[in-house]
This record gives sequence, structure tokens and C-alpha cells, in this order.
Amino acid sequence: MAIESLATALEREHREIDQGIEAFTSGLAAGDSQPEPLMRAVRALRRHIYLEERFLFPPLRQAGLVAPVFVMLREHGQIWKTMDALELALDTGAADASIHKLCRELTVQLQHHNLKEERVLYPQIDQVLTASVDSELKNFLDSGQLPDGWLCERAPR
Ligand SMILES: [Fe+2]
Ligand SMILES: [Fe+2]
Repeated sequence: MAIESLATALEREHREIDQGIEAFTSGLAAGDSQPEPLMRAVRALRRHIYLEERFLFPPLRQAGLVAPVFVMLREHGQIWKTMDALELALDTGAADASIHKLCRELTVQLQHHNLKEERVLYPQIDQVLTASVDSELKNFLDSGQLPDGWLCERAPR
């Protein structure tokens, strides 16, 4: 079996995060408001954003993809803000309807964002990443942790 490419692994993370949010919202619709699937998805998404901004975007930018990386960073900031609002809503026991609305917002943001990454940026990975960054990234995917207190570059402060 071929070793999974980095682009495939990152796309898989997109799908898994979407599925976590979806599992939570369908649970909510059925009267089950267990937040764990959503909290797991939010944690995975913050780590995914870290991985992109730390390892992937700098070489892509250097290769000339300045504008698309700029847009992705701005969208990460917007996605980050929605995740903060969601966690606050869960912590403060907000009404299901407002949590559901925030989940919907996050899902729409991710649909647009992930599509652009998958069409424009991820296909460049093989040409742009050096072998050492590639293996650093694969190691991080396996077992890396989001550093405590890390904020994405365009997070609201
Ligand atoms: Fe991203
Ligand atoms: Fe991504």
C-alpha cells in the first residue's frame, strides 16, 4: 500500500473535522447535546491550522503563492473567531439554537476555505516542500501537539 501523501492526509483531516461538527449538530437535532464530538473537532481544527501556518504556508509563500496564502491566513482568523465563540457558548451553557447557528457558520466557513486549499495550495505541496519539511510535517501529523496558548497569525486579539 502506498504511503499516504501529505495532501491526502490534510484533506482527510478536513473531512474528519467536518464529520465531528456534523455528528454534534445531528445529535443536537435529535435532542442529544453531548459536546464531545464538537470539542474534539475544534481541537483538531486548531491543530490543523497550526500545522498549516507553521510548516506549510511559509514555503508556499516563498514559492510565490503570496496572495492565496494571505487569503488563507485571513480566513483562519475568521474561523478561529467562530471557534472561540463556540467554546464560549458551550462553557456558558448557551441555548442550543445559538450553538447550532455557530456550528452552521463554522461549517460554511470551512466549506469555502477547504475547497480553496484543496484546489490551489495542496496540489503544490509536492513541488514546494523540501524532504525535511515534508518529514517534519508527517511526524507532526502523527503525534504533534498544538503549543499551549498558540494563536493563529490573524486571530482576533
Ligand atoms: Fe487552512
Ligand atoms: Fe486545511
